This record gives sequence, C-alpha cells and structure tokens, in this order.
Amino acid sequence: MLPGSTMIFTTIVLLCAVASATAQTPVASQSFPFPSILTPQVPTNPPYSSSPVMKPFTLSAVTDWSRMSDWTSPYNIYRDGGGSCSLSNRTFWVFCDTTAYSKTTGNILGAASNSMTVALSFSNPKGLKDVTMIPSTGWKPAIPFTAYEDTFSGNIGTRYALWTYTNCVQLSETRAMHFFLVNKFSNPYSSRQYGNTMAIYTLDPVTNQITIERPEQFWYTNQTYGYGSFASVVVNKVAYLYGLDRTYSGSYDVHLAKVPVGYETNRNYYRYYDAAAGAFSYTMPVPTARRQANAVIQGTMPFSTGTVFWSAYHNAYLLVFFNNWVDSTFRVLSAPSPTGPWNVSNSVLYRSTPGEGGFNYGGNASPIYYQQPGQIAGKELLLQYSYQNTSNTYPKILQVTFN
Ligand SMILES: *[C@@H]1O[C@H](CO)[C@@H](O)[C@H](O)[C@H]1NC(C)=O
Ligand SMILES: *[C@@H]1O[C@H](CO)[C@@H](O)[C@H](O)[C@H]1NC(C)=O
Ligand SMILES: *[C@@H]1O[C@H](CO)[C@@H](O)[C@H](O)[C@H]1NC(C)=O
Ligand SMILES: *[C@@H]1O[C@H](CO)[C@@H](O)[C@H](O)[C@H]1NC(C)=O
Repeated sequence: MLPGSTMIFTTIVLLCAVASATAQTPVASQSFPFPSILTPQVPTNPPYSSSPVMKPFTLSAVTDWSRMSDWTSPYNIYRDGGGSCSLSNRTFWVFCDTTAYSKTTGNILGAASNSMTVALSFSNPKGLKDVTMIPSTGWKPAIPFTAYEDTFSGNIGTRYALWTYTNCVQLSETRAMHFFLVNKFSNPYSSRQYGNTMAIYTLDPVTNQITIERPEQFWYTNQTYGYGSFASVVVNKVAYLYGLDRTYSGSYDVHLAKVPVGYETNRNYYRYYDAAAGAFSYTMPVPTARRQANAVIQGTMPFSTGTVFWSAYHNAYLLVFFNNWVDSTFRVLSAPSPTGPWNVSNSVLYRSTPGEGGFNYGGNASPIYYQQPGQIAGKELLLQYSYQNTSNTYPKILQVTFN
C-alpha cells in the first residue's frame, strides 16, 4: 500500500470514530428525579406554509399572574431568563442564574448557572416545583458543565455560564432539544459568548427520571451563528433553528438552520438557509461580515429574546420577542412558513411594567399552556419575562387572549 493511501485510510477511520463518538458519547450528562405532575396538552400540527390571511394582534383580555414561584421549595428561589417545553404531558422550565435563599435567615444558600422546575398546573401557571436546586448535590446546574468547564465553577470572575433564553422543543414523546449560548466570564461583571451548545432532555415516564446531556461542549463556536439559541420550532419532523448575528448586524439579522428530527446530534444533517437563493444548502454562511442577503429575518429593531411557534388561531408562524432597547415590550412578527417571508413590521402585543431594575428582559411566549382540548392553539398565550426587583430578579407571567 502507498504511504499516501495509508494516510487517507487512517484519516477516514479517525473521522468515523469521531463521528460516532459525537453521536453516542455526550461530553456531559446527568439525571434528576422528575415529579409526575401532569399538564396534558395537544401538540399543534403546523403546515409548511399557509395562506397569509390571519387575525389581527389586538387583545381582548390580559390576566397578570405576576411572580412564578416554587411553591413547594423550602427555599426562596430567584432566577432569570428561561424557556419551557413538554415531554410525556409534563411541562418544565429551564431558567438561568438561580439562587436559593433561606426562608428564615434570608441568607444565600446556593447558586447555579441554570435550574429546572416543573409546572404544577396550566390553570394556575404561577406554581412551579423545583427539580434541581438541591444542596446535597452541591447546587449543580440542571444542564451539566463539561469536566473542563466545571473546573472554573468556584470562581465568579472566570466561570462558564449556561443560560437558556428561549424554549426547548419537543422531538418525540420523551425527547427534547434546547440550544443556548455558552458564556465565559473574564471578570465578575462581564462575560463573552464562546459559542452555542445543545442540551438533550430525555424523560423516562416510568422511572420518573430526566436525563440532561450535552453532546458536545460547543455545537457551534462563536465563529458561526448561534443557531437555535434565539428560537427553535419543529414542523413536520424538521427542527428549524434561529440564531442572531450579534457581531456584525447588532442583532438585527436572524439566520436559520434546519435538521431532520432524529438526526439532531449529527452535524452532517444540518442545512443552512440562504434567503437570497430562497433555499437551504449544506454550506453555512460564514459570519466574517454582515450577511443580510442570507438572513431569514432582517429586523427593524435589534432582537434580544424570542419564541417562534405556529398559531392555528392566526393561521401563521409567530415570533414573539423583546428587542434590545430594553423597553419591556412584547412584540410580534408573523410569517406563512418558518422560512418566511417574515413581515418585519411588528405589532406591540403588551407593554409590561418594569421593576426597580429599570427594565424587564428575557421576554418569551409559552403557547403550550393554552393548547388543551377545546382550545384553539395560539388564541391565548402565556408571556414570560425576567422582572428586576430591588435586589433580585424573578420570572413574571401573564396570559393574553387575542380578539
Ligand atoms: C397526554 O395527554 C393526552 C390528553 O389527556 C392523552 O391523550 C395522551 O395519551 C397523553 N400522552 C401520554 C404520553 O401520556
Ligand atoms: C470567541 O471565543 C473565544 C474563545 O474561544 C474568545 O476568546 C473570544 O473573545 C470570543 N469572541 C467574542 C466576540 O466574544
Ligand atoms: C404586516 O404586519 C403589520 C402589523 O401587524 C400589518 O399591519 C400589515 O398589514 C402586515 N403586512 C402584510 C403584507 O401582511
Ligand atoms: C420586591 O422585593 C421586596 C423585598 O424582597 C418585596 O417585599 C416586594 O414585595 C417585592 N416587590 C415586588 C413587586 O415583587
């Protein structure tokens, strides 16, 4: 055999080993007992594309549920960010920076980069039951750090942070996927995004265990768009993953990738949308400059956080979002398909009232709360945001009903 062909053969073998290791051995994994609290809902069945005729975005009712809190926890728990999804008729949230305080002394007992908590009921959406803020485990985050990231955990000025700012998406009855940015602190007050990562949630409804895995430390490094960490939606067994161009567009442009459900941990199945060509390809647009022509959405204001979902009531895909101007206002865009064309002329849905901190952030919609039998999906929405009180931040929610 020629030396050259030996080398090629070796390379192929190595690549195969890497590919299968990627799919089968996560870089981090852990499980938690998961309460059996049922919140059954009916999944929507979105079409690829609908006719753009739809209802207006005016509201007939708003119910302010105020603070979401962990009613059964022995601690006062504060948290921010967050998103939700359902598995096997149980609905859970993954929030960001979480702190637990003693109810008697008011002293801080523990903190974690993120935490998981379960919805108690859709009819009283304020109530949560915390799953992961447990002192006996050392208050570890719900989404595990890699062993390397964990070596920085004790140091507030160099730590990694895993912050979820959009909803997870259900892939099957027992499996969901969640994308978010991986941040690293360079001093106690500022952090940078090193990339984007994926968590896979697998619920065993018989043993009541949830397993949370990260297939790789970075699914995409910060040299590419953070696909999925702005928003994700599943349509007919295809996951559509939206990511912001923060660096070159100042978060005005949204880029889109897609992957067939079942292949989400295999990078070779990801395809990337090029709006100029009106098609997906295996070639990822490289963000070495602003790529407006490739972007699926070019906003008229910078995006901060958001949720994409199908609204049967509006006969449209909706993007409910907060902008980066921190005006505490929920706005909505619409499109006939996940790839658009997105109508970027936004409607104001609801102006929330900020607390002492000056502005609310982390605005998202949780449509699944009102996808119960007899309800038209999208007619009502649960809106959630991070409210900054005098010294702490916590999630607040409201229910809105469209005309
Ligand atoms: C979820 O709840 C719905 C409605 O009650 C029910 O039809 C369905 O079988 C349930 N699914 C599971 C996996 O429990
Ligand atoms: C991208 O990540 C690298 C670490 O891999 C970091 O040094 C750099 O500052 C990051 N870039 C930005 C723009 O945050
Ligand atoms: C785009 O959305 C705005 C705000 O909701 C609406 O007034 C306008 O009619 C929409 N345009 C089209 C072409 O649907
Ligand atoms: C803000 O925090 C204070 C002190 O913890 C508390 O008494 C008050 O009720 C909170 N205000 C709101 C609007 O939640």
